[in-house]
Amino acid sequence: MSNTSLLQINTEHPQENLIEQAATIIRGGGLVAFATETVYGLGADALNDEAVQKIFQAKGRPADNPLIVHISSRAMLARVADEVSDKAERLIEKFWPGPLTLVLKRKPEVAVAVSCGLPTIAVRLPANRIALALIERANTPIAAPSANRSGRPSPTTAAHVLQDLQGRIEMILDGGETNIGIESTVIDMTSEVPLILRPGFVTREMLEAVMGEVRQSGSEEDLKRSPGTRYRHYSPRARVVLVERASAEKLKQICEALWLAGPVGLIHHTPIETGEQKQFTIQLSDSPADYARRIYGAFRKLDEKNLQTIIVEGIAETGEGAAVMDRLRRAASEIYS
Ligand code: TXA
Ligand code: MG
Repeated sequence: MSNTSLLQINTEHPQENLIEQAATIIRGGGLVAFATETVYGLGADALNDEAVQKIFQAKGRPADNPLIVHISSRAMLARVADEVSDKAERLIEKFWPGPLTLVLKRKPEVAVAVSCGLPTIAVRLPANRIALALIERANTPIAAPSANRSGRPSPTTAAHVLQDLQGRIEMILDGGETNIGIESTVIDMTSEVPLILRPGFVTREMLEAVMGEVRQSGSEEDLKRSPGTRYRHYSPRARVVLVERASAEKLKQICEALWLAGPVGLIHHTPIETGEQKQFTIQLSDSPADYARRIYGAFRKLDEKNLQTIIVEGIAETGEGAAVMDRLRRAASEIYS
């Protein structure tokens, strides 16, 4: 494949003729990247095993890391999942459409490659009109991991998708910058006490308010249930140094020490004098929502400067801050607490 077409889509009113073009590709077993409210997804027909395998090839994704299936209505859930518990129903009622992915028992109709042989399926109903229109038009559930090359930061703009996947996929539906900026919360509903496999915009507190006790994944045993968390993730090419709690003093010291080996990137919120470093610095606000929205883009931006190292200042673990810190810890090869 050589050409990837890029279509500008109106997020409020997705143009039907353009959505139809994309839906035709999906129905024909091809790949279309599309905006969601979290990050861009790389979609294929979830009921077509050959199509789903193309996702793994295009991304260079390990063959044992299963995909999230996206649906456009509550009714479509029955085509992919079985045994929806009362607790799961309550979550669906409260958080769909939205950035929450439920792991449920899988229906045999779903392509084997989607779940990598697991008896379960991860599924979500996104809150983005482009995503919903595409699924509805294609009239099939769509398997879609984040639309980045495996291991790279998730894409929050169509330009990021092009950087990673140009020439490897048929089409991108450009819906502008995504709102949330980090991936959905993933919760496994197949155990007695539900288990958060990946933190996200929907926090543990929000989940517990709806259905009582929830566990947070952490043990070795848990990790086996969440194949994706085994791999290095969300990383720019540069080495990431995370400074979990910083003062201006401490940040400055670390920057200066690392600068001796060459220019280093810096992503921070605490105001500091950066001097020479300024051109490699991205300052964000200290709001977790702002960090979530901009962190992956900031990684990519600094990566264009071919730096050896990027220093990132952490943020408070409130709201989506917990999910942001989870991603930063996974991306980091060195952490100062
Ligand atoms: O916000 C999102 O979730 C984005 C947008 C495109 O929807 N998608 C996304 O997909 O982040 P991906 O493939 O990058 O992450 C999927 C995560 C991985 O950690 C994977 O291991 C986990 O979901 N997962 C998928 N199926 C699973 C299953 N059956 N059991 C346990 N974990 C599963
Ligand atoms: Mg991903």
